Amino acid sequence: MKREQWSSNMGFLLAAAGSAIGLGNLWKFPYVAGSNGGAIFLILYLILLILLGAPLLLTEMAVGRATRLNAIDACKAIHPRWGFVGAAGVVGAFVILSYYSVIGGWVLKYLFAYLRHSSLGDADTYYTGFITKPLEPVLWHLLFAACCFGIVAFGVSKGIERISKIFLPVLLITLIGIGGYALTLPGAAQGLRFLFLPDFSHIQSFSDLGTILVQAMGQVFFSLSIGMGTLITYGSYLDKQANLQKNAVMIPLFDLIIALLAGIAILPCVFSFGLEPSAGSGLLFRSLPYVFDHMTGGRWLAIAFFVLVFIAAVTSAISLLESIAAFFIDRLHWHRISASGLATLCFALIGVANSLSMGVWSDFTLFGMSLFDLMVFLSDNVLMPIGGFFLCILASRIWGFPKLLQEISSNGTYPVRFPSILRWILRWMAPAMILVIFFVSLF
Ligand code: PHE
Repeated sequence: MKREQWSSNMGFLLAAAGSAIGLGNLWKFPYVAGSNGGAIFLILYLILLILLGAPLLLTEMAVGRATRLNAIDACKAIHPRWGFVGAAGVVGAFVILSYYSVIGGWVLKYLFAYLRHSSLGDADTYYTGFITKPLEPVLWHLLFAACCFGIVAFGVSKGIERISKIFLPVLLITLIGIGGYALTLPGAAQGLRFLFLPDFSHIQSFSDLGTILVQAMGQVFFSLSIGMGTLITYGSYLDKQANLQKNAVMIPLFDLIIALLAGIAILPCVFSFGLEPSAGSGLLFRSLPYVFDHMTGGRWLAIAFFVLVFIAAVTSAISLLESIAAFFIDRLHWHRISASGLATLCFALIGVANSLSMGVWSDFTLFGMSLFDLMVFLSDNVLMPIGGFFLCILASRIWGFPKLLQEISSNGTYPVRFPSILRWILRWMAPAMILVIFFVSLF
């Protein structure tokens, strides 16, 4: 069977940017940046994005394109014993999808709620009432999972690429619109100060700086979708003549722009209503609905906003689903529909348990965490750093740097810029940093 391909490098770029731009940008970045010293975090984040994010992204794309295989078999093709690196990614994809899709379901629920009602009443009561229900959140989660399946089943260029081409521009325009409106609100300056001004009170000691570094690296990994094999999979459908280096600059750039825009859109809203910004579900499903319910025309803003979050979430989720489906397709020679169907079924089932862990199963904990939190911890703090660490070693030492360079340069078409720095980063700096930060974050 001939391997599918993106119809153009632009198609790949939009799909990869779609994978990167997700809940990480919208619900994590504004808060994490603001509460870790604003500009101090931004500068560190930027440095890590350049030194760690872009080189790893480049490496993943190169491994995928050279082998033209799913993440597990791509790593195996480089060395038969190294399939575990890709396997960590595929397992990680299941883990992330299992909670990402539950949140995707909440987004759909809120979107439909605002389409039907002008206000949700007390935001906290509404949120807690909804997520602890046994059945309703599960059904919304299954609807979100079905959307992902529907897209991936159509294929790489007819499904994923086509949806990304439509969705991403809509996301950008909506976000700019909301951002423009947010800047006219009375508390806007305070929100911008929180995000952009350096707050040195956050670095009293050396260990404070360490904490900010840990947060920044975690954010770089999660936000760029690194270490989960998604970029290996997406890279495997790339044309041999595509310019990988350009892609490795454009994807982080898009991702950063959207994250900053998200901060500019969300923080002024939160501050102008005297609320404290928070991370995660608190921000999207409690603070913002409170804001929407108390502002004129808030309902329409809410609808636009949840459409935006849905787009961001779905274009990330399909990249994870594709990296699992690609494994079933390559290895078992399954038809795409059965491959993506089985993958959806599996992650959806774990997702049901995650959803129930918010309510009826909340008493059940492992390592002091609910199932949902455990999944988040497992993907962010364990599987992603492990995947990233071994990927650096595999590509730069086992495969060998010359072969990597040859692939990156498309056989010499685009000479690699700063090869010795790249070599040093992949062989030494990136693995060492990931290792240190991995242990710091565990203890
Ligand atoms: N990058 C996505 C986000 O920011 C999450 C993601 C991680 C997607 C890993 C794919 C792989 O939300």
